[in-house]
Order: sequence, then C-alpha cells, then structure tokens
Amino acid sequence: MSDVVISESREALIAAARAAMGNAYAPYSGFHVGAALLFDDGAIVTGANFENASYGLSLCAETVACASASQSGRRGGLLAVAVMGGMGGAVDAAISPCGRCRQVVNELAALGGTDPLVLCVGADETVEMRLSVLLPNAFGPKDLSHRAGSV
Ligand code: THU
Repeated sequence: MSDVVISESREALIAAARAAMGNAYAPYSGFHVGAALLFDDGAIVTGANFENASYGLSLCAETVACASASQSGRRGGLLAVAVMGGMGGAVDAAISPCGRCRQVVNELAALGGTDPLVLCVGADETVEMRLSVLLPNAFGPKDLSHRAGSV
C-alpha cells in the first residue's frame, strides 16, 4: 500500500524538492539543497538549507523539512524523502543526506515505525535506497525507554 502511495507521488515529491531548493538560503557555500517528505496521507512537507554566518550552525534541507513536519503535528507516517542540490541550484550529481540528517529523519520515521525510501535526485539519475541502508542499526527512540514527553 505504501509503495503505491510512493509510486503515485514520486514525481510530485521530486518536483516539491526542486521547488523547495529555490528557497535555499546558502550565501556561504553557494550549494542549494531542497528536500521533500512524503507522508502516508499523501501530504508533502518541504525544506531548504538555511545557512548561518557561523557556518557550523547551518541547517540542512532535510532537517528543516523534518522540523516543519513536526511543527505541523506529524509524528510518523513518513514514507519517502527526496533530496537534491547543486551549486547555485544547478543539480548535477545525486546527493544523499548527511549523517546528521539521517539521524534526524530516523527520528521522524521511527515514531511511525516506517523505513522511508530515500530518493537522491541527480540530473541524470535518481538513486533510491531505504533509510535503514543509509543508517543501519540506528540509535533511536526505542533505545530510550524512559523518554519524556509525548510523541
Ligand atoms: N546540505 C543539506 O542541506 N543537506 C545535506 O544532506 C547535505 C548538505 C547543505 C548544508 C550546507 O548549507 C550546504 O549543503 C553545503 O554543505
């Protein structure tokens, strides 16, 4: 069932990531990134990287998208993630989520018990793999049985 939702929304998800990339704030690296999250109700939530004059504090596109989803009350149901980027927004090679973003996406996915398909979109090819392949043996909410607050 979730595979049907993914295949039906695949092109819309990629288009959403591309559109989000247009909102990248990346004056320091010049590398614009867009990300789009697909949920089991068909909703798509996007994000773009938001850099900072203190370079290391920059936020990646995937992290911004996850924070936006959480802010709108989403706690799980994550089926797929599309990410793409390039200098000045010109997409060339497919990029995959950085290590921190893999962990951030894992949190959202784990809350709903899904293993989202990650679409790494390049100019000539889209590389697809499950999050569990990108982040095997992940540390997550299950490891904190005493976790506080509502999920
Ligand atoms: N970036 C992302 O937005 N997502 C990633 O997964 C990798 C890197 C951003 C961070 C920074 O603004 C720029 O790309 C260059 O590293």
